[in-house]
This record gives sequence, C-alpha cells and structure tokens, in this order.
Amino acid sequence: MVQGLLQHWDAYTDDHHNTWKRLYERQVANLEGKASPLYLRSLAAMQGALTRDDVPRISAMEALLQQTTGWSLTVVPGLIPVEDFFQLLAQKRFCTSTWVRRPDQLDYIEEPDMFHDTFGHIPPLMDADFAAFMHRFGEVGAALVAAGEEEAVLGLQRLYWYFVEFGFLRGATGEPELLGAGIMSSFGETNHAWSLKHALKPMVLEDVMNTPFRTDVIQTDYFLVDDVVTLRHDLDQWFAAFNLEAQP
Ligand SMILES: [Fe+2]
Repeated sequence: MVQGLLQHWDAYTDDHHNTWKRLYERQVANLEGKASPLYLRSLAAMQGALTRDDVPRISAMEALLQQTTGWSLTVVPGLIPVEDFFQLLAQKRFCTSTWVRRPDQLDYIEEPDMFHDTFGHIPPLMDADFAAFMHRFGEVGAALVAAGEEEAVLGLQRLYWYFVEFGFLRGATGEPELLGAGIMSSFGETNHAWSLKHALKPMVLEDVMNTPFRTDVIQTDYFLVDDVVTLRHDLDQWFAAFNLEAQP
C-alpha cells in the first residue's frame, strides 16, 4: 500500500514558483478555444487553490475536492505500481508528485511532474461525472488485478492512456475538445493533438483496449469520447462479463 508523503511547500524556491507561473499562464492561453468546458469549468472552480500565482498547496486543492466530489490526494514520489494506483482510485484518492520541473524543461519532461499531475489531472476530478468514472475505473481495476486478469488490466491501462491522459471529449456543438491530462499539461502536445482533431478514432472500448501505446514518442492515435457517463456505463458492461465483484 502506498504511504503518502508530505508536501514541503516552504521549500519551493522562486525558480519553482516562476516556472509554475510560466507553465500555467502559457497553457491557459494555449487552451483557449480548444479545451472542453468540463475542464475549464473545473479549473475555474479551483481558483484559490490552483492558480497561476505560485506552486499550489496539496491541502488547499484537496479541501476543494473534498467539498465537491469527496476526493482526496495522496503525495507520491513518482510513478507507482498499477495495483496501488487502482487501489487509490477505488478509495477516491488521486496521487500527485510535488516536484516542479527545471526552467529548461518547460517544453518537455520525461517523467510527470507536479504541473502535469495537478494542472492536468486534478481539475476534472471536480466534475461529478468524471470523478464517478475515475472511481469506478479504480474499483474495476482493483478487482481485475485481484483476479489475476492480466490482459484485462492491460486493456484498462490503455483506456487510461487514451482517455484520461490523451482523450478528446465531444463538445455541445459536436466538435472535439481537449480533455486528457497529458494534453492539458503540455504546450507542444496541445498543439499537436489539436492539429489531429479531424482524425480521431471513436472511443470503442474493445478497440482502445487493443491499441498499444508508447510513452516515449509523440502520440499518433487519439480517441474521441462522446460522453463520460456513457463511457462509465460501457466500462461497467465490459466488467460485468468477468463475473467479479468490484473492489471498493
Ligand atoms: Fe498523467
């Protein structure tokens, strides 16, 4: 089980806060006209806790999540094993790092830092439908890990990659809009993904679960989700075929 760490907020330097501010301001401007209202609404709802001013405090973001969708945050040093990750989600906990990239890493960073983990991932957890999807995703994942269903677990990891990290969401006008955290937290990825918005694949679970991904190259496949609630129902239907109890 993951042992949550503490954020040492006073240890951030001016460099950290300046890097944060540059990343935040540049990305908010870049997302204009591209990001889904689900994301923008949620980011706006986090004002006071996740702002351009300085590196955010985990406790302030968590307090807002708690009030809104009942989620909590766990500080981790970096990537954690998938079984632990599912367990946390099943308990309505999202994990985040607290380190901020160097000023010369504004455009590219190999391992997710706090800007990715928070600016990218946390706002949508303020949305009831998105939060419910993530919770269910964790419960389903934990059950499949416990049952030793390795292929299904791999399928879930691909769904996470192509939806939570790199997904598009269909907007009210029918046009695709950006949602995935890997896109929202990256200037280059935002523009690259946006340039491919007319070549999206429909989010059909069995297709996405059979699409391998690479973390070390720029993305070529993007999927479009029509509706987050429908995706959760699709996930439930897929999971029902395993005849397992979801693990709370
Ligand atoms: Fe991520």
